[in-house]
Amino acid sequence: MTEFIQTRLEGAIACIALNRPDKKNAITSAMYGALADALSKAAADEAVCVALLHGEGGAFAAGNDLADFMSSPTRTCNEPVFRFLRELAHFEKPLVAAVEGVAVGIGTTMLLHCDLVYAAPQTRFALPFVSLGLVPEAASSYLLPRISGWQRAAEWLMLGEPFGPEQALAAGMVNAIVPPEHLLSTAMEAARKLTAKPQFALRQTKRLMKQNQYEHIDRAMRDEARVFAECLQSPEAKEAFAAFFEKR
Ligand code: COA
Repeated sequence: MTEFIQTRLEGAIACIALNRPDKKNAITSAMYGALADALSKAAADEAVCVALLHGEGGAFAAGNDLADFMSSPTRTCNEPVFRFLRELAHFEKPLVAAVEGVAVGIGTTMLLHCDLVYAAPQTRFALPFVSLGLVPEAASSYLLPRISGWQRAAEWLMLGEPFGPEQALAAGMVNAIVPPEHLLSTAMEAARKLTAKPQFALRQTKRLMKQNQYEHIDRAMRDEARVFAECLQSPEAKEAFAAFFEKR
């Protein structure tokens, strides 16, 4: 267990919060484990109709903890990050996200698995994998071109420059831009509306929308994980992580 992931039930909504604000909610292996457990519990609990992801302290997530990358640069398919990604990609109930501050790396790619995404105006999204000597994960190499179009996905995944919520909205990654003071309540209100729908029809709608994608998503995740593990060992990646912590 980790105190950096907090869960609470509000009516039929399972709220899952990243709560490591001093590190901009960068996600450690223990946090992936707790996120996977929280999603698995929400999936199994018949009282839960919707899950809502958000970050505490003004940030959504600064991506994978880079110190974890440096200390354990090997990744096997049994590791918590992959358990989390499998739970996320195969979550059968609606997933809502409220995003603010930074959404870097997996902080952005996990949104591609959410059904409704609300973002605050100052949110900075970024997919800096290539600049870190890495490759995309969470099936983003498959999903992003399909959601946002090829050139947009190539720009974000290859150049890795940050982008704002207006671009994310125009690219179909975000449903609405909401002032920070209303962000969580707007996401909660959408989640609440979903809890009031006929649940069989709602879940079947998600299944019908996604069923032809699972094979591609699972394959992309496997391929990405293999290359990602290789990249983590590279001198370029090691140098990029060291440069971040040495503030170069
Ligand atoms: N892993 C580990 N620690 C991280 C982190 C990460 N991914 N992102 C931020 N932190 C830590 C910083 O080291 C800093 O710690 P310190 O106070 O002990 O020095 C703290 O969080 C605050 O970060 P800081 O860089 O000072 O905040 P910022 O607002 O200036 O910038 C980011 C925020 C997210 C843009 C910047 O921290 C960043 O680029 N982080 C790395 C993101 C990344 O590459 N993620 C992996 C993608 S695969």
